[in-house]
Amino acid sequence: MTDHPTPFLPPGVGFSPQAVHAGEARQKPGNAITDAIFCAATYTFADTREAIEFVEQNLPREEYARYGNPTQKVAEAKLAALDGGETAVLYSSGMSAVAGLLLAKLRAGDEVVLFDECYHRTRQFCTECLGRFGCATHKVPACDYEAMEAAINDRTRLLISESPTNPHLSVVDLEQFVALGRKYGIETMVDPTLATPMNLRPLDYGVDYVVHSVTKYLAGHNDMMGGVVIGSAEKLQSLRDLRGVVGNLTGPHSDYLLLRGLKTFELRMRRHNENGMAVAEFLEGHPRVEKVYYPGLPSHRDYGVALRYLRGFGGLITFLVKDADATATARVVDAVRLPRIGPSLGGVESLIEQPIVMSYHSHTPEQRRAVGISDNMIRLACGVENAEDLIADLRQALDA
Ligand SMILES: Cc1ncc(COP(=O)(O)O)c(C=O)c1O
Repeated sequence: MTDHPTPFLPPGVGFSPQAVHAGEARQKPGNAITDAIFCAATYTFADTREAIEFVEQNLPREEYARYGNPTQKVAEAKLAALDGGETAVLYSSGMSAVAGLLLAKLRAGDEVVLFDECYHRTRQFCTECLGRFGCATHKVPACDYEAMEAAINDRTRLLISESPTNPHLSVVDLEQFVALGRKYGIETMVDPTLATPMNLRPLDYGVDYVVHSVTKYLAGHNDMMGGVVIGSAEKLQSLRDLRGVVGNLTGPHSDYLLLRGLKTFELRMRRHNENGMAVAEFLEGHPRVEKVYYPGLPSHRDYGVALRYLRGFGGLITFLVKDADATATARVVDAVRLPRIGPSLGGVESLIEQPIVMSYHSHTPEQRRAVGISDNMIRLACGVENAEDLIADLRQALDA
């Protein structure tokens, strides 16, 4: 049973028809082809009997916008279908989804173990916020399963990883990761935001919770923020309940932008994958580039694992400029014309940044070294502009 029956979709249809149609009614209010945006804080009942029936029978209709809205339900159903999950819970950001899951599942005295290449705000939430509520976090080197096993004890409740990681693009061996969880009876969470369900579906390997920042590829236009947790309806009920108390959910306009973005998701992702591969190969061959991190390149540490798990390698590339300090690296960033300078990834516009200027600005040089962030590092998120023009632009910037 899933929360996303789409009876009019022929059984067994592929990813692209799912992105366009899954979770939607064939005929919608007003006979519109698109789902409507409901700007309503509350939803009314015809009479007291209808209200009592709703509360007593938990009927599938809206009551109050802190518990969701009809457009959001369609977006959740579509996201669950794309990841092969039973149900999805949407949040106001990717970080809100991470926090929503951890706050629903953990209590004082519980512990989590995570790979140290997880998104820096996820690490911060675990160590600083959960720490204040008596939950300990153990960070172990990315993809070091022995270190992860050594950090497990009888208080461990959750194993956490991203795949691929950001910005080093390490790829997790999901079978080993899940086996570790099963051996000790511990649940597992994977954030495959950089892969998306097009390139990786962790639930297929037995992961318990998938978390995405939908702000990135899934919505895809750098115009809304959201996050989602996908998994079994039973496991996600406590998340939905807590979200209803806290109200950290997307609003109807954002839900619509997400739905609209998802219509072209498969097309966009194909282009991100093509661009990522072509640009990574170009960068690796350029004399001013010291090293490229891209899981589709045989030079990447996790290339073998990537070939086993990823159906495409995504649009994010990290590279080091040869013999460059922070200023010389900034000159390359400033010389590009197509990618815009800014954080984030996964939108139609290419984005470029130096991690030391953006996410890691407040870190000390020692802290940066500890997480492998160097002064000559550039992170490039390929958008959907064509690869030839992106490459020509990068060539002129590197040659300048
Ligand atoms: C891998 C990953 N997970 C989660 C997040 C957080 O998502 P959001 O910015 O939507 O809160 C990010 C943001 O960059 C990310 O890169």
